[in-house]
Amino acid sequence: MVPREFNDANSSIPLLQVALDYFSLPPAIAMAVKVAPYVDVIEIGTPLCKAAGIEAVRAIREVCPDNLVLADLKTPDVGDLEAKMAFDAGADFMTVIGGAALATVELAVKTARSMGKEMLMELTGVRDILARAEEWKQLGVERMVYHRGWDEQTFDRQWEEEDKVVIRQLIDMGFKITVTGGITVDLLPFFQELPVSIIIAGRAIHQAPDPAASAHEFRSTIHRLWGASRAISPGANGASTNGNAFLIDAAPKAIRWGVSEMGLLLTVDGRECPGCDSPNRFCEGTITTIHSPDGVNVDNLVQSITQIFGQSRAFGRAANNAFYLDPAQLSDPSPAKIIDLLLATGNALRQLGYRVDVNAGIGVANQILGSL
Ligand code: 5RP
Repeated sequence: MVPREFNDANSSIPLLQVALDYFSLPPAIAMAVKVAPYVDVIEIGTPLCKAAGIEAVRAIREVCPDNLVLADLKTPDVGDLEAKMAFDAGADFMTVIGGAALATVELAVKTARSMGKEMLMELTGVRDILARAEEWKQLGVERMVYHRGWDEQTFDRQWEEEDKVVIRQLIDMGFKITVTGGITVDLLPFFQELPVSIIIAGRAIHQAPDPAASAHEFRSTIHRLWGASRAISPGANGASTNGNAFLIDAAPKAIRWGVSEMGLLLTVDGRECPGCDSPNRFCEGTITTIHSPDGVNVDNLVQSITQIFGQSRAFGRAANNAFYLDPAQLSDPSPAKIIDLLLATGNALRQLGYRVDVNAGIGVANQILGSL
């Protein structure tokens, strides 16, 4: 099992956070369980914190042991005690509202640091963001939530180019930025040029007809957009790449390295392998065979991948304890489709309770696909 960690530090692909803005705990827990395999961070939304108290943080932490957890307290005062309360209950992150006194910010930052956790400044309602940002930086704040609030959305506030200018300046100042506020899959390209750390989706996931599918779509689009901008591949935005080089070389290599980086074991022992660019390499052909991890039934795994990816001969059972991925069997092979296949594999394993580092796998696959 891969331990929980703040893995955005080494990745240019933003983490996906689902915001659970519920008014009672039971439906929030049910939703958390449903979407946990497809998201990185689970947020206990401000209304839920108020309705169910800090017990909500404890309960979500218990049912989602492998996700990062954020308590969206939007703390206005008593920064140290509220931060401690959230972290003691199992949160990895908590938020302080931008209007709070600097003393509150300082106390929350200190508490977070002393407990190995993080606090985020919530920018809802802050007008002079860049001026305040200088002050917060002095106090050691590293993360901010750039937010188009719910009520602002009610009054038709749109995401504008000016928002991007401010976000870019905050990133240039060294802050890690979370963006939130009515974000849908269709809005993701608007943010693509920005190296944001975390993207939050609330209603777009938990009010979708199939929340797990919606979360999967968010994640795969995020990986495609941000992975593509890093990889600079002509085909990485979804267009098919022509030629044998892609299908014979890059696609299987991306899959082999991708699943290995996720923490899975190939059935071919590649420890002595001279490498993917060598003519003497061990792996040949387009098929990669992978051990089904301990405790994961291979048929259940294939079924889960089918549910997420759809029917395809690009994956299937290879043996009692192994499955295969074969990009040559895709009807429309493209870098985007390879990434989707890897994501479906990682998410299916998570769904079955096996923790894999999906982001690491997708990161390396994107790099390989980008070198075409
Ligand atoms: C409201 C919040 C929400 O969690 C945030 O806006 C995300 O929700 P949605 O994606 O549904 O707009 O912090 O204050």
